[in-house]
Amino acid sequence: MTMKKEIKTIFKEKFGIEPNLYAAPGRVNLIGEHTDYNEGFVLPASVNKSIHFAIKPNSSGVFRFYAIDLNESFETPVDKIEPSKTHWANYLLGVIAQFVKDGKKVPAFDCVFGGDVPLGAGMSSSAAIEVGMAYAINDLFKLNYSKLQLVKFAQMAEHEYAGVKCGIMDQFASMHGKANHVIKLDCRSLEYQYFPLDMTDYMLVLVNTGVKHSLASSEYNKRRQECENGVALLKKYQPNIHSLRDVGLELIQAHKSEFNEITYNRCSYVIEENIRLENACNALEQGNFVEFGKLMYGSHEGLKNKYEVSCHELDQLVDMARNTDGVLGARMMGGGFGGCTINLVKKGSVPAFEKNIRANYKTPDGKEPQIIEVVIEEGARLVNE
Ligand code: GLA
Repeated sequence: MTMKKEIKTIFKEKFGIEPNLYAAPGRVNLIGEHTDYNEGFVLPASVNKSIHFAIKPNSSGVFRFYAIDLNESFETPVDKIEPSKTHWANYLLGVIAQFVKDGKKVPAFDCVFGGDVPLGAGMSSSAAIEVGMAYAINDLFKLNYSKLQLVKFAQMAEHEYAGVKCGIMDQFASMHGKANHVIKLDCRSLEYQYFPLDMTDYMLVLVNTGVKHSLASSEYNKRRQECENGVALLKKYQPNIHSLRDVGLELIQAHKSEFNEITYNRCSYVIEENIRLENACNALEQGNFVEFGKLMYGSHEGLKNKYEVSCHELDQLVDMARNTDGVLGARMMGGGFGGCTINLVKKGSVPAFEKNIRANYKTPDGKEPQIIEVVIEEGARLVNE
């Protein structure tokens, strides 16, 4: 049974009526990591792994949710939207809370959701849940918010109900994705440009380390603070600096002695990553995948050595990629401390690459790693029959 059929069937079994169906995808990011909350650039795309939502208003005054993948239910009265001990429910409640804060009344509904975005793999399953929820509520109750406003609601849900002060990339990509294109997003102005990604000869392959370190969210918030500390220091010299986006390498190098080593490394990584992204977009325009791949490796080195958000397992997978013919580029993807690597691989080399990984990498519990070949597809949508 396809995902959408399964989800509809379960909804009908539980609630006895025909639901509306929506989907929001997970994302990849080709380059530009930890740049979004520094008002820099990112290059994500939405992929063919999605969370589906079956949803219909009810007249009970209670929101009723069922998470298929966990086989768990959760419900709460419409007038009692607050952070919950049920972890997964917070991604949904956090979104409803944003509409309510903006003065909207969200009527009660039933919702069954589930999908194939792997959890904790750095593919933004949480953003897909938030964006799908925001998209569905907006459409179902004809609230007329723009896609961008819904993206911001989804991001705020993560801040306020999941406790991660994430940037805007994941939610933006899940909402605005376009088949066969990557999105170059300016995280300051929120202007964006689609770049065609001609994958005739290449494939994007994700390898999931199977590791998810619990320090991910606390370290994430810490990195944010370290970048802000760097900005505060440089502001003394150039008061109009607002974020690392405004800082060139010359400026930070000139004041190196005033930084502690960690803050200097964090800030210079972000500045360099924005430069790499610009070069990567130029390489894409020239169809130069070899150069693009080199920049991906460069990004990983920076994330590992300067930003220090990688981990042993991610480094191991990137090293294996580097030593396999036909892998043009590889890097850790997303927040870090586990999750996936993203690999740009020549089509003909994919089987050998995957075989090599399976033979030489085992997850911490001794299993074979999950390997995911992704295709770039549309962002959040109403699913038609
Ligand atoms: C997570 C966050 C994003 C972004 C990445 C790192 O995925 O949700 O906003 O900061 O980490 O690039």
